[in-house]
Amino acid sequence: MLLHIPDVLASQQVAEARAELERADWVDGRVTAGHQSALAKDNRQLPEDHPVARELGDRILTALQRNALFIAAALPLRVFPPLFNCYQGGQSFGNHVDNAIRHVTGTPHRIRTDLSATLFFVEPDEYEGGELLVEDTYGVHRVKLPAGHMVLYPSTSLHSVRPVTKGARLASFFWIQSMVRDDGQRTLLFDLDTAIQRLSRDQPDHPSVVQLTGVYHNLLRRWSDV
Ligand code: NI
Repeated sequence: MLLHIPDVLASQQVAEARAELERADWVDGRVTAGHQSALAKDNRQLPEDHPVARELGDRILTALQRNALFIAAALPLRVFPPLFNCYQGGQSFGNHVDNAIRHVTGTPHRIRTDLSATLFFVEPDEYEGGELLVEDTYGVHRVKLPAGHMVLYPSTSLHSVRPVTKGARLASFFWIQSMVRDDGQRTLLFDLDTAIQRLSRDQPDHPSVVQLTGVYHNLLRRWSDV
């Protein structure tokens, strides 16, 4: 499932983050790429331990902890500390799949990348190109979202970033290990959760609310590893 999560950051937070990103020192993005993706990757990144990356990353994680749509869709177990990238002057990232396992630098922790996330910091009309293309069984999705919005997609997907031919594309990207590894099972749980929420809003006293909530939790018990 590919999901657009609106307003992860408020416009004031986006503006502050953008000012800090524009002042920061960037490095070649190949520092965090795997062997195959290093060949396809042409962008700049903030070093993982850069104070601006850590500060803004914490703000994003705090915002996500309060985001009901993100929690329901991702069922997060661990979130990789957000990274930041910049594309300009024709830079792009060719088709690739993200590494399955990532070390969290400076810690003994590893995460399995079940979901990939991109959070946009620049409005779509401020740069040309830079669409994120994500392939799934239904075809290729083109994603270019308003500043402060985020896309979540299965890390199993082939994806790429189109060349940025004018302006600059600033974004945060990171990975989530979900309590439910399988995208199909996670999508079923999300659909069921969404339906239960609608039913409990429209018919709060309906006995099916309790029964369906039971089904949700019993499926989560069956499918999760924590
Ligand atoms: Ni990628």
